Amino acid sequence: MISKPLIIGITGASGVIYGAELLRVVHELAVPIHLILSEAAVRNFAIETDYSVEEVRKMAEVVYDNKDMGAAVSSGSFRTRGMIIAPCTVKTLSAIANSFTYNLMVRAADVTLKERRPLVLMVRETPLHKGHLDLMRTAADIGAVILPPIPAFYHMPKTIMDIVHQSIGKALDHVGIEHSLFRRWTGATGKDGNPAVDEGSASYKERT
Ligand SMILES: Cc1cc2nc3c(=O)[nH]c(=O)nc-3n(C[C@H](O)[C@H](O)[C@H](O)COP(=O)(O)O)c2cc1C
Repeated sequence: MISKPLIIGITGASGVIYGAELLRVVHELAVPIHLILSEAAVRNFAIETDYSVEEVRKMAEVVYDNKDMGAAVSSGSFRTRGMIIAPCTVKTLSAIANSFTYNLMVRAADVTLKERRPLVLMVRETPLHKGHLDLMRTAADIGAVILPPIPAFYHMPKTIMDIVHQSIGKALDHVGIEHSLFRRWTGATGKDGNPAVDEGSASYKERT
């Protein structure tokens, strides 16, 4: 049986590395990816990372034009396992919260919600004014998972990638993709007063 694809959206918030690493990990896990990149995301790859857009696109089975409103993912009859937008701008959050489906990214997110499939929004902005918070509340009310890339420290991150992997691992938990990207908390009962963590370690290969 062919595995249902995961839709990955990448928008132009700071932190497009979250989207790139998500693509890389899901690709390694052999889950088909249908990718939508916003224009602003493409610009931010050049500003913030050493990824070329070609490298990013190559990790997906299908790459859509964000203006292609006739694409498969614009219809609920095309079955997917859900959608993760990493990172998600306030602009795209706003469009999703208001079902203002002006591009394929927002249409695919809206379809994901109406079909009651998981939609994870890794919203990135700081500080947040009340309008941003209201948009997040509205999106959560209609079914989105609001998962800002906020680092945790109980897994003792040593590198930026440790921090990135913890957040994308949390996003993958919501779309039912098994991974061992970070060590999970198992209660503060470890020896020597140290926190107990499971021994899971990342199953992905480091980027070379
Ligand atoms: C370097 C850079 C960083 C940005 N960071 C953010 C951010 O963290 N959050 C945000 O909402 N917008 C951010 N923006 C602004 C968005 O890119 C801009 O609003 C864009 O129109 C969003 O379009 P999109 O949602 O279609 O990607 C940033 C822009 C640049 C150039």
